[in-house]
Amino acid sequence: MNKEEIENLFNGIPRVNLGFFPTPLYKAERISEELGINLYLKRDDITGPSVFGGNKIRKLEFLLGDAIKKGATHIITYGATQSNHAMQTAIASNILGLKPILYLSALVYNEGDLRSNLFLDSILDAEIHIIDLESGMTDDDGEEIGIKMAEEREKELLKEGKKAYEIPGGGSTNIGSLGFAKGFLELVGQVEEQEIGKIDYIFATAGSGGTLAGILAGRAIANCDCKVIGMGVSPKDENYVKRVISLANEGLSLLDNSKKVEKEGFVVDDSYAGKGYEIPSKEASNAIKYFARKEGIFLDPVYTGKAMAGLLDYVKKGIIPQNSNVIFWHTGGTTALFAENEIVGKLSD
Ligand SMILES: Cc1ncc(COP(=O)(O)O)c(C=O)c1O
Repeated sequence: MNKEEIENLFNGIPRVNLGFFPTPLYKAERISEELGINLYLKRDDITGPSVFGGNKIRKLEFLLGDAIKKGATHIITYGATQSNHAMQTAIASNILGLKPILYLSALVYNEGDLRSNLFLDSILDAEIHIIDLESGMTDDDGEEIGIKMAEEREKELLKEGKKAYEIPGGGSTNIGSLGFAKGFLELVGQVEEQEIGKIDYIFATAGSGGTLAGILAGRAIANCDCKVIGMGVSPKDENYVKRVISLANEGLSLLDNSKKVEKEGFVVDDSYAGKGYEIPSKEASNAIKYFARKEGIFLDPVYTGKAMAGLLDYVKKGIIPQNSNVIFWHTGGTTALFAENEIVGKLSD
């Protein structure tokens, strides 16, 4: 599929330009040699527009295109206090003249000590609502509380003649996942241009699921038989897999594409999530240090470090055969390296 055919496929779907695409694809030479595989990195950590890029920018191109079409003046979204998605949404909303409103669950939060993404959110002048969580509550519980709070805020805005557009946590809707369907076709073009040959495996991090769903939709469009591995950053079950499949298929129907995503061809593996979301693991810390020291690339403790820990272990166990062509989709999140110690873990030895 050439660039023009890809553009045509997405014609008629509202979209705004936010990032610098295509993002680089290249071989991690030193680590490839050590592992005995051909490891390629798809650098969505540098999607732009800021230096703190990441996977959400692809989704936001479509989500905010839709918001503008619907006449929104404000963008409401949800996440943890250190949410990459919320921070990216604040950036993207501002540059389009939309006001970002964030409902952030205080999974890790020390009042008066604004760090990392929360610090950036405040520089960006987002309207921030912190949701205190009682012990045992998750960010999903926080999102539920946030949704109720947002209903009231939306009513206030309506009275002022303003209109809010709501994006669920992670931006994982059928519209959002189109960003990664497009991203997958971008990747296929680069693989052809660089004469890499057959892609055997693609690794990506699986959080709210829209990234994986988009990759699978793109894979179906491109008739690619590569195996996709979504590395969960929190426990995932069969319902999660079903949700990813339906998100992918809803995305395909928005494109009027008759292809279907099935259960075959991908796996979701949560065995490298460690003790849970935003809790550092030793394996992820080791992967972060290894990548930084060998390739000069920073991974993050919450998402990509855990996904890479899984990839390295798959190679060690021979699940990925030697000489395979493997793509690791670097989805960003490196601001977490500057978050609270509880999130960063031990990285300095
Ligand atoms: C850095 C990073 N990587 C991966 C993901 C997972 O993407 P998704 O939520 O689409 O599954 C996220 C989601 O927040 C993220 O911030």
